[in-house]
Amino acid sequence: MQTRRIGDVAVGAIGLGAMPMSIEGRPDEQRSIATIHAALDAGVTLIDTADAYHLGPADAGHNESLIANAVASYGGDTSDVLIATKGGHVRPGDGLWTLNGRPEHLRDAVEASLKRLGVEAIGLYQFHRPDPNTPYADSIGALRDLLDAGKIRMAGISNADPDQIRQANEILGGRLVSVQNQFSPAFRSSEPELALCAELGIAFLPWSPLGGISNAAELGSRFAVFAEVARERGVSPQQVCLAWMLAKAPTVIPIPGSSRPETIRDSVGAADLELSAEELARLDPA
Ligand SMILES: NC(=O)c1ccc[n+]([C@@H]2O[C@H](COP(=O)([O-])OP(=O)(O)OC[C@H]3O[C@@H](n4cnc5c(N)ncnc54)[C@H](OP(=O)(O)O)[C@@H]3O)[C@@H](O)[C@H]2O)c1
Repeated sequence: MQTRRIGDVAVGAIGLGAMPMSIEGRPDEQRSIATIHAALDAGVTLIDTADAYHLGPADAGHNESLIANAVASYGGDTSDVLIATKGGHVRPGDGLWTLNGRPEHLRDAVEASLKRLGVEAIGLYQFHRPDPNTPYADSIGALRDLLDAGKIRMAGISNADPDQIRQANEILGGRLVSVQNQFSPAFRSSEPELALCAELGIAFLPWSPLGGISNAAELGSRFAVFAEVARERGVSPQQVCLAWMLAKAPTVIPIPGSSRPETIRDSVGAADLELSAEELARLDPA
C-alpha cells in the first residue's frame, strides 16, 4: 500500500477505524481479531482507537485491549504498526458520551491506556474532543507535558476548528502531528481544517469517512455520483469515496471503521485507485 506520514512515521494510506468492534452492535471477539488480522495482512499499519470505545465502565478500554491482543497474536511483523488512541471522552454507561479534558484526567487516562496497550510510550495520543468546562490550553498543555515526559511519542487532536489547530500546534511547540475530524460525502464542512493541515504538513484523519456505522452501506444509494464512478471503475462506492479523500491532499489518511475482514480489505483497495481530474470534479461539484 502507498504510505503517508504522521510526524516522522510512515503509515499505510488507509488506516483501520476500530470503534465498530467495541461499541453497540459489536461482533464477537473472534470476528474482531480476524478483522484486525485481515487489515494487517492487507498492509494497514495505522489502527485508530480510543479509551472510550467500549459499552460502559465495566468493559472500559475494550477496544484498546482488543487491538493489543490482536497485534500480539498476529503471526507477522508488527514493528511498523502505529496504534493511535485518544483520551478526553468518557462513557459512564447508558450509551452516554461525556467529556473530561482536565489535565489530571488525561494524565490518568494515559497511564491506563499504556497498561492496556502494553507499551512504554503511546505511538500517537489524540485529545478526543474539546471540553467546554476546561480551557483548551490546559488540555493541550497536558499533552505537551506527556510528550515531554516520553509517555506519548506523538500528539494529535480531534474535533478541532482551525483556531484550535493553530493554538494546539503553538502550545505543543510545532509538534502537532495529526487532526482527526469528521469528513465524508455527507459531512464536508471540515474542508477548512483539511486545507489547513495540508498547508502545515499535519496529517488529517477523516473520521466516519463513509458516513458512519449505520450509513456506510448505503453510501452509493445516498450519493449517486459515487455509485456511478464505482460502476464505471468496477469497484465499490466506498472505495471511490476513500480514493476521493486521498486525492484531496497527501496529508489525508482516512480511517474507515470495520468489523468484518471483507470491508477492510475492500477499503484498502482505495489506496491503489487513482481517480482522474474529470472523476474528481464530478464527485466535488463546484
Ligand atoms: N474522533 C472522533 O470523535 C471519532 C468519532 C467517530 C469515529 N471515529 C473513528 O473513525 C473511525 C471510522 O468511523 P466510523 O466507524 O464511525 O464510520 P465509517 O468508517 O464511516 O463507517 C464504518 C462502517 O463502514 C462499513 N464499511 C467499511 N468499509 C466498507 C466498505 N469498503 N464497503 C462497505 N462498507 C464498509 C463497516 O461495516 P462492517 O462493520 O460491516 O465492517 C463499518 O461498520 C471509527 O472506527 C473511529 O476509529 C472517531
